[in-house]
Amino acid sequence: MESDRRDWLEWHKPYDDPNSSLSRRLAIVRRELASALDAHGPKPLRLVSMCAGQGRDVVPVLAAHHMRSQTTATLVELDKRNTNIAKSDAKARGLTNVRVVEGDAALTDSYAGSVPADIVLACGIFGNIVDDDIRRTIETLPTLCARGATVIWTRGREQHRDLSQDIRKWFGSTGFREVAFHAPEDARFRVGVSRLAIPPKPFARGIRMFRFVR
Ligand SMILES: C[S@@+](CC[C@H](N)C(=O)[O-])C[C@H]1O[C@@H](n2cnc3c(N)ncnc32)[C@H](O)[C@@H]1O
Repeated sequence: MESDRRDWLEWHKPYDDPNSSLSRRLAIVRRELASALDAHGPKPLRLVSMCAGQGRDVVPVLAAHHMRSQTTATLVELDKRNTNIAKSDAKARGLTNVRVVEGDAALTDSYAGSVPADIVLACGIFGNIVDDDIRRTIETLPTLCARGATVIWTRGREQHRDLSQDIRKWFGSTGFREVAFHAPEDARFRVGVSRLAIPPKPFARGIRMFRFVR
């Protein structure tokens, strides 16, 4: 039903309050992204952001980073209002290598030509899809990743369960090594950083990784 749908423009509002939990999460994601860019070394890099929203994590970090001209970033986001904001922000910051795609981030086809990626962001996804889809997404990531790629992901803790523990296990059993995991005691969000420790798998079109449940 239309009225049950989440308004994904509105969802970004708490970012305007620097003390909100979402802003705290954003600060960690940005820091981890900057570290992943630092760690890559001075060679061309590909980055993809799945369900990128307004690009509030990628765009400012890239703009301020010495890797900005070496990095090609692809942001995949369904909501045109959000893609417009991401595009204007990238333009205002003079980033010419940021491609904002209005498309379905759940379909591997959306990444054709943009992968294998050295950095993948999966932020704000795992709390909106069923557990089996989280697992399928993690298991598909090696087909989108370059050798040694870094994946930055988020998930909120619920009142009676903290699925981030299972997510960490699923990354491990898929061939990722954990680089960092943030779980502040006074917050519900969790941020994980995992690095691909097995050879990447061949990219394949036609795979649907997930469906948002709202
Ligand atoms: C929770 S927000 C996260 C946004 C951003 N990654 C962040 O952390 O700031 C989820 C975003 O996913 C987008 N979205 C939902 N389903 C999508 C899909 N199948 N493909 C691409 N984007 C999608 C929504 O429009 C929304 O902007």
